[in-house]
Amino acid sequence: MASTNPSTYADHGSPEGDPDAGRGRLGVGRAHGKVILLGEHAVVYGAPALAMPVSQLTATVTVRRCSCPDGSADQLSFAVAGSGAAPVTPLATDGLRRLVAEFKEKTGAVGRVCAGVLVDCAIPQGRGLGSSAACARAAVLAFAELFDRRLDAKEVFDLVQASETLAHGRSSGIDALATGATYPILFRAGTARELPSLDGVCVIADSGVGGSTKDAVEMVRRKFERNADAQAEFVRRVSSLARGAADDLAHGRSGDFGARLTENHRLLRDLGLSTDRIDALVDAALAAGGLGAKISGGGLGGCMITLAGEPRQAQDIVRRLHEAGAAQTWVVPMGRFARHGD
Ligand code: PMV
Repeated sequence: MASTNPSTYADHGSPEGDPDAGRGRLGVGRAHGKVILLGEHAVVYGAPALAMPVSQLTATVTVRRCSCPDGSADQLSFAVAGSGAAPVTPLATDGLRRLVAEFKEKTGAVGRVCAGVLVDCAIPQGRGLGSSAACARAAVLAFAELFDRRLDAKEVFDLVQASETLAHGRSSGIDALATGATYPILFRAGTARELPSLDGVCVIADSGVGGSTKDAVEMVRRKFERNADAQAEFVRRVSSLARGAADDLAHGRSGDFGARLTENHRLLRDLGLSTDRIDALVDAALAAGGLGAKISGGGLGGCMITLAGEPRQAQDIVRRLHEAGAAQTWVVPMGRFARHGD
């Protein structure tokens, strides 16, 4: 992963006559990626959904406070760690600016904030792996440290959501919570409950094509605006799958859980959210013995997930996914296969 180098921050203003306390002070925040196991899109309309943290995909934000030029408003500059890293997109910086404004309002932090924000994110963007929410969460925690504020879970959630709503449009909040979770979660209407993990291995495959969650959410919204019955039916069927899947996790029923994933894929594909590449990856995973497979996240590209019963089978599936065109894969051991202390 790229290393952080605070010396890459832009400086704002001269140090002479610096009126700002805390200049040069650092705050660091961390979060991780996530995959949605089941229930994306339906969750925007109130259905429950399941998501899981992906701890090997990390986001770290380092904020260094600097002096504000005389008479200036807040000034934030953004830099990305690592020479080959993707730039922070204007949408992401808008989201982070919004986050800082909300942070000041919510925490009562007074005075101007002039700071360099260094984003070190190993989570690919536009792949449904939670990169925007993880960066926002890491930034909230970094600013909290910088300003010595203790934020409770709800305050962190609200701040991440403020930035996510800007990036995604209508946003359920599942990413905001899953990027800080340590276990699979069952999410519904802004709250989450932790679930036990299955003994198995989740394989995530990147189709190599980015998808815009904002466009996907908007496409679904327009479809449902024209057809309220289709919305009700989709939400009803996904809600039933999500409740069943949560029960499968509680009772260790991997096969049933996998079948529900595949059923959820069909519903998402019927809404036009899958792509030929993702469908090919789903077929390859199932042919290689995956217990279930589906697109994951916003769709129109991005990633798919599949469930293997044990690590050796996961390796076979990984090979078949690459043969079927996966750009990259991640293996997430769960339950007794998870290495503790990662
Ligand atoms: O960030 P993504 O691409 O995993 O999408 C989040 C899931 C959606 O249901 C599509 C949107 C939302 O806010 O819940």
